Amino acid sequence: MAAISVKDLVKRYGPIRAVDGVSFEVRPGEIFGLLGPNGAGKTTTIECLEGLRVPDGGAIRVLGLDPRRDRYELHQRIGVQLQSTALPDRIRVGEALKLFASLYRRRGPWGRRWEGLLEPLGLADKLRRYYHSLSGGQKQRLHIALALVHGPDLVFLDELTTGLDPQARRAVWDFIQTIRGRGTTVFLTTHYMEEAERLCDRVAVLDRGKILALGSPQELIARFGGESRIVFRPLRQRPPSGSGSAPEPGERGGAARWEGLPYVRRVRLEADGRVVLYSTKSSATLAALIREAESRGWDLEELHVQRATLEDVFLALTGRELRG
Ligand SMILES: Nc1ncnc2c1ncn2[C@@H]1O[C@H](COP(=O)(O)OP(=O)(O)OP(=O)(O)O)[C@@H](O)[C@H]1O
Ligand SMILES: [Mg+2]
Repeated sequence: MAAISVKDLVKRYGPIRAVDGVSFEVRPGEIFGLLGPNGAGKTTTIECLEGLRVPDGGAIRVLGLDPRRDRYELHQRIGVQLQSTALPDRIRVGEALKLFASLYRRRGPWGRRWEGLLEPLGLADKLRRYYHSLSGGQKQRLHIALALVHGPDLVFLDELTTGLDPQARRAVWDFIQTIRGRGTTVFLTTHYMEEAERLCDRVAVLDRGKILALGSPQELIARFGGESRIVFRPLRQRPPSGSGSAPEPGERGGAARWEGLPYVRRVRLEADGRVVLYSTKSSATLAALIREAESRGWDLEELHVQRATLEDVFLALTGRELRG
């Protein structure tokens, strides 16, 4: 049985179709990501799955249950991190954990002082701190901890690492992998391409309430990302003494110089002098580029290959950039 199944989900706010006929399935034990820009409909979708918003159409099953009708039963088995949450200022971290744990029939797998939960989230020494004295990133990590106190079968994480510094973000990714290793299914939303690419087994790309593509990051990149980028800065080698440094007569300039290389689809000349070749077969383009450069006396400074990313997938699907 799928951990989550959604069919033709629709949610309107007045004239806005925030979620416009979305269907997908999440398998048990996977980390599934909903990736999309601001306003794409991620929070609306996830809150329909959590039973917090009432859809206008479609069918949802979460762990085999109906999120509205079977709300109490479902609540015991899932964890929820909302995009915006606030706790009372004068509750201590330890008290918040106890309070949340008391809402569930089942006991989580964590130690008496929540070591297994707090240490990986960098909060082990914060048990007695008041909520209001935590930094924004610490509050965010506490909200993740609170979603996991009872060891849920499935956890919903809306904007998992927004506001976290890069080091904390990586630590959270590692912890989410650990949680999944223990059998928890993870459903998250993000607008960070890197997060989707590094963490998720499968990703649904959501834009303007519709799913544009769904698959593993590698599948999506192979299908829609298309080309790798070969980047370098061409420099004329110092000519041997005695010979002139002027270009050879008839030598092509600008982008045209590189366009004839095998498998090159496009050439971009950057303002800083770097050249970007978009290639469908980077190894062949690279070999030809190096031969060409040697025979013409060019140095290829800073030469490197960048493979396509989910950013390229989003650009290919929407014509817009998704900056995360
Ligand atoms: N309660 C509401 N009332 C009216 N419109 C809403 C409401 N909630 C969301 N919307 C609208 O629905 C659309 C989708 O919003 P949603 O919050 O689901 O996007 P999101 O993908 O989570 O964006 P973000 O990345 O900014 O969190 C937006 O156009 C938003 O303005
Ligand atoms: Mg949101």
